[in-house]
Amino acid sequence: MQMRVMGIAGSIRRGSFNRALLDAAVELMPEGMEVAPWDRLREVPFYDAALDTDELRPEPVADLKRAIAEADGLLIVTPEYNYSIPGVLKNAIDWASRPGYKSVFVGKPVAIMGASGSMMGTARAQIHLREIMYATLARVMPHPGVLVNQAPQKFEDGRLVDEPTRTVVASFLRDFQTYVRQMQGG
Ligand code: FNR
Repeated sequence: MQMRVMGIAGSIRRGSFNRALLDAAVELMPEGMEVAPWDRLREVPFYDAALDTDELRPEPVADLKRAIAEADGLLIVTPEYNYSIPGVLKNAIDWASRPGYKSVFVGKPVAIMGASGSMMGTARAQIHLREIMYATLARVMPHPGVLVNQAPQKFEDGRLVDEPTRTVVASFLRDFQTYVRQMQGG
């Protein structure tokens, strides 16, 4: 059966390297896996607990939660902002994480990648994101990960062109496919 992975890039910037890295994942996914980007991050309002009810919840948030619930796994591609993840991404995770410990994240296999211009290639943001996802009871894949450093040298016209990085992404996705199967008990 086809494995459905929801992909979310934590940047709303036109020309985002992280969104382009997610596109590379769509291109490089192994047979039997489908990566569907969720591109409505810009529409998600600031978290407001007073609006977090079945009657009042904003539609993009409801759609985000539906997409996570329906996916077999989640691929988060995060930029690094001041050694952490961008607020837009944290905000969306906060919405989707409620009700606490009973949300759509519980038990959900999650893989993390990221691209940045620095030598560290989002290492610090990825560590923060792992911590955040642990709070949601998602199952973050233990993995050396995909850290795309010096991003401007690795993308051309919105496409990941660096061959060694493409090989790493393809292998990472195969590992995630195996991990999701393991988490599903088969
Ligand atoms: C950055 N950037 C950055 N890069 C990094 O490696 N470590 C960091 O701590 C930061 N901090 C940071 C803060 C803020 C507010 C901005 C706007 C940028 C650079 C960042 O990685 C770069 O702009 C990426 O290109 C952002 O990702 P997208 O939008 O290309 O996906």
